[in-house]
Amino acid sequence: MAVFAYGSASGSPGVTTTVLALGFEWPRPVVVVEADPVAGSAILAGFFRGVVEPTGGLVELMVAQRQDHLAERLPSVLLPIPDSQVKVLPGIQTRAQGAGLESVWSPLLSALRALEDTGTDVLIDAGRLPWAGPLNPLVLGADVVLLATGSSLPAVAPARALAADLADQRPSGAGLLVIGPDRPYSTSEVSKGLGLPAVGRVEWDPRAAAVYSRGEPPARRAERSAFLRSIRATGEAVRDFADAARRPNPHALSIGGVR
Ligand SMILES: Nc1ncnc2c1ncn2[C@@H]1O[C@H](COP(=O)(O)OP(=O)(O)O)[C@@H](O)[C@H]1O
Ligand SMILES: [Mg+2]
Repeated sequence: MAVFAYGSASGSPGVTTTVLALGFEWPRPVVVVEADPVAGSAILAGFFRGVVEPTGGLVELMVAQRQDHLAERLPSVLLPIPDSQVKVLPGIQTRAQGAGLESVWSPLLSALRALEDTGTDVLIDAGRLPWAGPLNPLVLGADVVLLATGSSLPAVAPARALAADLADQRPSGAGLLVIGPDRPYSTSEVSKGLGLPAVGRVEWDPRAAAVYSRGEPPARRAERSAFLRSIRATGEAVRDFADAARRPNPHALSIGGVR
């Protein structure tokens, strides 16, 4: 049971699509948190095609936080996706709402960790990670942070500075998710270029991706597609990565012992 944060450096490499797809293939119930600072819920407009009645989501939690009721209110603002174990916490809808978010992240992380006790994992869609200034506390406090990137030079080059900063801020538990590997750089080339371990790789498949990003019906035999196989393998790798990141570092312990 853990908190997994996903974000990007630039462009739109496919964070939201990947997070939702991972959620559907996750072996336990998950809460997907829309923590993208860009206003307008990508999941409500995309996967849900704008036809579901939104919950108050993060905005309602901002209000609840002012009355110290965030944890109690959390379950009621989660939007369940029918026939799945996925619930979505919808993000902000207007730019103005972004201003009030700062006060929500830390209490939200505590409330989400309390959900873990019920056997639920948390997948955070952090959207574009900030270039300057501190990372969102929800991202910094997650068990692992995965930087999603494409594999072209225009995708990888802008991610370099952020990857170095992430490695600094998170000596353990920071890794890469290569979306569309081998277009043209291989996963290991991207990893070498960015100095972070490649934890997952997601196949490039616009038709399969549209199921999550636009609510399109899945193709026949989608279950066995290379895309979904890559999502399942990535899910497993990311969970293993989180387990390793959460285990105490034996090297650090022995150094402590010598002292
Ligand atoms: N693995 C993939 N293969 C092909 N297209 C993808 C893939 N992942 C995402 N996409 C497409 O890329 C676009 C942006 O995806 P999205 O998940 O919204 O990106 P982000 O959240 O990083 O902005 C969408 O049209 C989506 O369908
Ligand atoms: Mg997104």
